[in-house]
Amino acid sequence: MEIRSTTDQDLDVFVDTLHAAFGRFPETPTDGGGVWWSALEMDRGLFAMTADGRPVGTAGAYSFELTLPGEILVPAAGVTAVGVVPSHRRQGVLSAMMRHQLTELRARGEFLSVLLASEALIYRRFGYGPATYTQRLTVPRHQAAFALPRARGEAGSDTGSVEVLRRADCGEVLEEVYDRYRRAQPGALSRPRRWWALGAGQPPISPAPRYVAVHRDADGVPDGYASYAIGEPGTLTVDETIAVDDDVFTALARFVLGHDLVSEVVFKHVPPEHPLRWQLADFRAGQVGNDTDWLWVRLLDVPRALTARGWFTDGELVLDVDDPFLGEHGRYLLTVRDSKADCVPTDREPDLSLDVSDLGSIYLGGTAPSTLVRAGHIRAHRPGAATLADALFRAERAPHCLHWF
Ligand SMILES: CC(C)(COP(=O)(O)OP(=O)(O)OC[C@H]1O[C@@H](n2cnc3c(N)ncnc32)[C@H](O)[C@@H]1OP(=O)(O)O)[C@@H](O)C(=O)NCCC(=O)NCCS
Repeated sequence: MEIRSTTDQDLDVFVDTLHAAFGRFPETPTDGGGVWWSALEMDRGLFAMTADGRPVGTAGAYSFELTLPGEILVPAAGVTAVGVVPSHRRQGVLSAMMRHQLTELRARGEFLSVLLASEALIYRRFGYGPATYTQRLTVPRHQAAFALPRARGEAGSDTGSVEVLRRADCGEVLEEVYDRYRRAQPGALSRPRRWWALGAGQPPISPAPRYVAVHRDADGVPDGYASYAIGEPGTLTVDETIAVDDDVFTALARFVLGHDLVSEVVFKHVPPEHPLRWQLADFRAGQVGNDTDWLWVRLLDVPRALTARGWFTDGELVLDVDDPFLGEHGRYLLTVRDSKADCVPTDREPDLSLDVSDLGSIYLGGTAPSTLVRAGHIRAHRPGAATLADALFRAERAPHCLHWF
């Protein structure tokens, strides 16, 4: 089995092989784009080839930017298009591609990679851990009255405006608003220009028909949008609600929840513990469904990753980190002072022992270290270590990613 890099010339065979792995047939690209694979970066792809030169496995990577706690932007490889044809499964093809890919990412100077997992059993062995979560929130319209949020002053004090546009008439508004939003949202990924230009991915990036409620501030500057469609029977489904702050989110939520001829509103993606449920007069009106992992994180350079993110509490922890897939092990002293971390190798007794996949899970602040201690994943060597780790690793708010790739 040989693993080799791909080029633009390989695109058709790459897409065919990947579809064979998923047991699907490619859709035909139509005018206006909208085919998800059009944004693949073929110079970052891998083929697994048999001895007689047939491709039987694929893996790719996108060049994204990830927002870390503290509004820090770092490069992140977005692993994608992973598949092995059914005839060649469980023979180590994926393992060989993952090993090759992680080595290449390091050689490019990348210190973390991310992915969305089709099945939750696949990637932990390669050092990935679930790090952000997302939920679907369904609100029946007859229960959608807002309670007056005391701290927010007058209900409806929004000084902005909402205009409904057709997706095709949005120009670059969505791209600009998304970019503002993702820079301040831990866990969010950039959406490179070519995604919008090619209409790759899911709505509202793809040109699928949608209405888009665009919110503008008092000066007319767009600062949020909700992309939606109304299906039968009276269900308004919001692909994504993107807002640069909570007040804009509230204004957009009020707008879709106030839509006539609609019996329920489904928000496809909200972060866990989203404030919207607290804003509804009836707390039970917001029904949570599809509560699932989204972004998985894999750290490739522990000290670099830990010093890159922002921190909000001072403290000191010794982490003993095992990386069985890459056959590596390190013990690090993490010291946080004034929002900055220092992370150096140490011989001191560890406070916590953990696998690199668990470190990926707690890295963005979306998984409490104490939960993984209670689950038996992380070992705490002294009382209080888990509580301190919880305080240290927490982000300014729940990390959330809704970009599909
Ligand atoms: C998932 C997939 C890529 C695995 O490829 P593969 O070449 O069979 O994987 P490997 O042989 O390298 O497996 C390595 C280990 O992971 C395990 N594993 C692989 N896929 C698994 C799965 N879906 N569920 C549970 N375990 C899995 C294997 O059993 C093996 O374990 P072992 O080392 O204890 O024997 C392949 O099954 C596939 O293409 N599936 C359909 C497409 C898909 O889901 N792609 C992932 C997109 S995110």
